[in-house]
Amino acid sequence: MHTITLIPGDGIGPAIVAAAVRVIEATGVEVQWEQQIAGMAAVEKHGNPLPDATLESIRKNRICFKGPLTTPIGGGYRSVNVTLRQTFNLYANVRPAISFEGTDTPFKNVNLVTVRENTEGLYAGIEHFIKVDEEKIGAESIAIVTRKGSERIIRYAFEYARKAQRKKVTLVHKANILKCTSGLFLEIGREIAKEYPDIEFDDRIVDAASMLLVMKPQIFDVLVTTNLFGDILSDLASGLIGGLGLTAGANIGADAALFEAVHGSAPDIAHLGIANPTAMILAGAMMLEHLGELSAARRIEQAVREVIKEGVYLTPDLKPGSTYGTDDLADAVVRKLG
Ligand code: NAI
Repeated sequence: MHTITLIPGDGIGPAIVAAAVRVIEATGVEVQWEQQIAGMAAVEKHGNPLPDATLESIRKNRICFKGPLTTPIGGGYRSVNVTLRQTFNLYANVRPAISFEGTDTPFKNVNLVTVRENTEGLYAGIEHFIKVDEEKIGAESIAIVTRKGSERIIRYAFEYARKAQRKKVTLVHKANILKCTSGLFLEIGREIAKEYPDIEFDDRIVDAASMLLVMKPQIFDVLVTTNLFGDILSDLASGLIGGLGLTAGANIGADAALFEAVHGSAPDIAHLGIANPTAMILAGAMMLEHLGELSAARRIEQAVREVIKEGVYLTPDLKPGSTYGTDDLADAVVRKLG
């Protein structure tokens, strides 16, 4: 029995999380859900987007399944997602982008995983305006790259590659210009690569990597990179396989692991019943894999792929004009698992 903190989230969150929970339960894996709230739901109830009870539950269970959260605008709230990453030291953001048969995209046979450093880089948030007589004449931002942070994310990427039987790790950087921050990250990458002679290693400058991702995405296997580059490239990779509605992400740390869809709360389609639950369902598969439930994880992936390939019970983002919604797609996946 696995006890998991469950945060339904905002907007389309509750609908896609409920769909994903049904799919997870249909595998027969025994899960006890500990439901908590965060985001706007928590602001409305407690005046705090991240209540202590939610943090306590994640601390205790060390595993969290989270729907997208609306970041409240104004009121001085910090992003709940960034706070969760920092509180639980969720240093590795892992996002697979694997082509689906049956989706409308010009890119075929994409099969790559972005491993993004999640706690340092330009996201350290150390920035300020330079003012002269109260006029903002400029702004500065400091990127933090530590040996410890770089070693752990790069080692994570190699370990992940080994475990997932992937063959190559590509480190993405801008060391030709950012000689200290990107330079150190690359230097450490080259050192660590020597510990993994069974995994091929190369490096690419971020601009060239971006071009190659859209020209020859098939040459990439595992990408490891710093926070901002990883943020951008992993969204680009989502686009290669058909969009955010299909991409799941894991946030892995020493103290906890959190699984979610990479998209947001989609307020424009909330309550219409048409949100695509695929990313959330696949986040569930990643979570089961993390929990050691490999066969259940594979079954879910397989079932989702079959449903999308068959092309019937698809939400309108996948098939314009479709009258099927969130529950229809989830039901079709559950039937495959039956
Ligand atoms: P979004 O990802 O929510 O939506 C962007 C577009 O994609 C919208 O047109 C939406 O309808 C569509 N979309 C997203 N997920 C979909 C799905 N599953 N099925 C069908 N269509 C889908 O991004 P947006 O609008 O910039 O952000 C909305 C809110 O979500 C903001 O408050 C933002 O801060 C938050 N957000 C939360 C995240 C998280 O909790 N991990 C990640 C990204 C944004």
